[in-house]
Amino acid sequence: MIRSRPDPATLGRRQALRAAFAAAAAIAVTQLAAAVPAYLRVNRIEGLGALVPVGSRDDILAAFARTNDRPILNIAGRFWLLRAPGGIVAAYRKCTHLGCAVPFNDAEDRFHCPCHQSVYDKHTAVVVSGPAPKPLQLFHIKDDASGLIVDTNPLNVIDRTDNRWDSAHLEIRT
Ligand code: FES
Repeated sequence: MIRSRPDPATLGRRQALRAAFAAAAAIAVTQLAAAVPAYLRVNRIEGLGALVPVGSRDDILAAFARTNDRPILNIAGRFWLLRAPGGIVAAYRKCTHLGCAVPFNDAEDRFHCPCHQSVYDKHTAVVVSGPAPKPLQLFHIKDDASGLIVDTNPLNVIDRTDNRWDSAHLEIRT
């Protein structure tokens, strides 16, 4: 049997199509490679996870003095600043029972979780009553030239497994 030879014109079209397809694939890969790093780069973190400036220690202490040590809410950072014994702490606002946002109850003068009625002390955030298994977690705080900075990284909290105040957890002493 004699095999017919491909028509030179057909051969040329195939090669041209292959070359065009390879060029399109190369362009697509190049564009994808250029786009991926932009998605992976973290430009700015706000709120939970960020370093949150909260002002000078003197201003914070003055606010506590004016309000009978009412905790100061930072909504974006999801924490409360507390007038702890001998210093200032930042308590993560997340209930240690099932994670509800814990409000401060002015009538009771303590934190009272509306979900299942856990109650936390206003100075230390240790559990007073309810199903919560441990105190509110604490965020790390540092004091620099601009004032106090709260690190709201939820993967780097101070987790107090004993339900008692321990001054060893104080990072800002007054
Ligand atoms: S989530 Fe707060 S008491 Fe259950």
